[in-house]
Amino acid sequence: MAKVKAQDVDFNNLGFEYLDLPYRYQATFKDGKWQDKGLVAESNVVINEDSPALHYGQAAFEGLKAYRTKDDQIQLFRPDQNAQRLQNSCERMLMPQVPTDMFIDAAKQVVKANEDFVPPYGNGATLYLRPIIMGVGGIIGVHPAQEYIFRIFAMPVGNYFKGGLTPTNFTTSQYDRAAHKGTGQSKVGGNYAASLMPGEQAHKNGFSDCVYLDPVNHEKIEEVGSANFFGITKDGTFVTPKSPSILPSVTKYSLLYLAEHELNMPTEQGDVYVNDLDRFAEAGACGTAAVISPIGGLEHNGNLHVFYSETEVGPVTKKLYDILTGIQFGDRKGPDGWIEVV
Ligand code: PLP
Ligand code: COI
Repeated sequence: MAKVKAQDVDFNNLGFEYLDLPYRYQATFKDGKWQDKGLVAESNVVINEDSPALHYGQAAFEGLKAYRTKDDQIQLFRPDQNAQRLQNSCERMLMPQVPTDMFIDAAKQVVKANEDFVPPYGNGATLYLRPIIMGVGGIIGVHPAQEYIFRIFAMPVGNYFKGGLTPTNFTTSQYDRAAHKGTGQSKVGGNYAASLMPGEQAHKNGFSDCVYLDPVNHEKIEEVGSANFFGITKDGTFVTPKSPSILPSVTKYSLLYLAEHELNMPTEQGDVYVNDLDRFAEAGACGTAAVISPIGGLEHNGNLHVFYSETEVGPVTKKLYDILTGIQFGDRKGPDGWIEVV
């Protein structure tokens, strides 16, 4: 794949596509320690055919963004939270942890080395960073690897769901993506592998993505295949599902805090029954890639439940979006420790 040049990128029309940027960070874990740390140009990773990452899914990833502010500063949003979640995923997958300071230093190096690709302030585009750790080397039995590669690569992105702040429709899935005592809390490929087929079916039927239901009774909303779910009740409570099989979203926890402290809203992490959607005035998907994507309607068993509107973002969702992105792009001050200047 050819390396892309910054002058060839149309920063006003970005989707969510891979681009081969000039630099990425790589480190290798060997003999009990991280070594050979630094920037590399090569985007291909050559690993043994028998690597546990390939066969047994011994790998984990993250997603975070770099934002350009109005006065041309570049900043990361809560990268310590992504470092912590990667450490949790690594613990579950029996992989060595990447220390938080190494993770943040690596992210900053990648942003600085690819600085020309951080989109200009103003249209919501960002530089998306994708950290990944994988178990490599020849291990044919079902056992963890002896060696690991950690990488962070990057690409400029726009909206993940094509609507942006315009609502789109979602559908529930008959499939499960993660079991309650499985790996749903970890950001690991297996969860996404399980979601590929239902996700493609949803796209073919005109939906943005699937909303998964609890794997026990298929009664409660869990999360979207690529984001967490939230709803605003008719009496103004910010509600988001609580489940052992969903990803602990940095964006979701940030919105819980902002709803409570900036909008004085009651908040609740609890059961969200798919047969009780009338309680919500608004609903949305939230995540690093999704930011806040309003859910216009949710199809379940052939019926489309419309929340606020299929064409207009609801007022509370819009307020939360403005506060969250205001902090991320440096237009307003967030809680201490949320912004890491590059
Ligand atoms: N849920 C899933 C399945 C995801 O892939 C993501 C994306 O990272 C999220 C939720 C949102 O998490 P975060 O807000 O930390 O990006
Ligand atoms: C993210 O929001 O960072 C994600 O990982 C979501 C998705 C692209 C899988």
